[in-house]
Amino acid sequence: MRTPRILMCPPDFYGIEYEINPWMSRARGAAPDRARQQWRNLYDALVALGVQVELMTPRPGLPDLVFTANAGLIFGNRFFSSRFAHPERQRETPYFDEWFVGHGFSVEHLPEGVYFEGAGDALFCGPTLFAGYRIRSHAAGHLHLGNVLERMVLPMELVDERFYHLDTCFCPLAPGEAIYFPDAFDAYGRTVLQQHIPKLIPVVETEAERFACNAVVVGKTVIVNAGSDQLAEDLRRAGYACQFVELDEFIKAGGSAKCLTLRLDGEDAADWGDM
Ligand code: ARG
Repeated sequence: MRTPRILMCPPDFYGIEYEINPWMSRARGAAPDRARQQWRNLYDALVALGVQVELMTPRPGLPDLVFTANAGLIFGNRFFSSRFAHPERQRETPYFDEWFVGHGFSVEHLPEGVYFEGAGDALFCGPTLFAGYRIRSHAAGHLHLGNVLERMVLPMELVDERFYHLDTCFCPLAPGEAIYFPDAFDAYGRTVLQQHIPKLIPVVETEAERFACNAVVVGKTVIVNAGSDQLAEDLRRAGYACQFVELDEFIKAGGSAKCLTLRLDGEDAADWGDM
């Protein structure tokens, strides 16, 4: 089996410095020491699972750089760099691009004016790219990628501002198997998921609000924010072990386990076929 590789960025300059989603409150802020400890616990849990964790250099003034999932989309050694919807996050792109150039990836950009927020909004389940649009990414960006990669793309509208990225309400586990929060999609989106993914595990709203869908999958282990007991039980019955890591300091920015990671070698659930 190959060694899973994940990109993370230490939270040295993490904080709530602006408000670009309903979870963020500058008045409430985040507690730096607690955040550092929680991030470290996630890092340790991944290393204990045999993951090779690569680290980016944190930068002052870029509090959301910790959310490496949004850097872009990985496909083999190609890195499709995000075009962030918000100017606050657009400033991260040069640093992500620099890291990927320096680590042997070919860095590619989407057409000008097309927003796209990487693995936050585009996730492979089997050979198909499931894509969330409207709040952060444009459907046009997803279609562009489908053409370039010659893969089927299924764009789904995200209808609840709390679940503004696809990875807050959908998580592929394996080809044909995923977790999702049904109410984050409209009836069409739910049908798309149900028709293309035979084993779908729904998450209840109270746990979705704690970012239960924002999970990191390594083999048969699923790492998620603490407290998703119902999901843990459902995963156990589906043959997965759930590991809780407390990540509430990051939920204050609208992110959790998955957002803090970017799988560099392709997700376990992805089946890219001949590339
Ligand atoms: N504050 C960040 C933002 O609003 C959080 C990003 C969370 N990342 C994710 N993949 N859902 O952009």
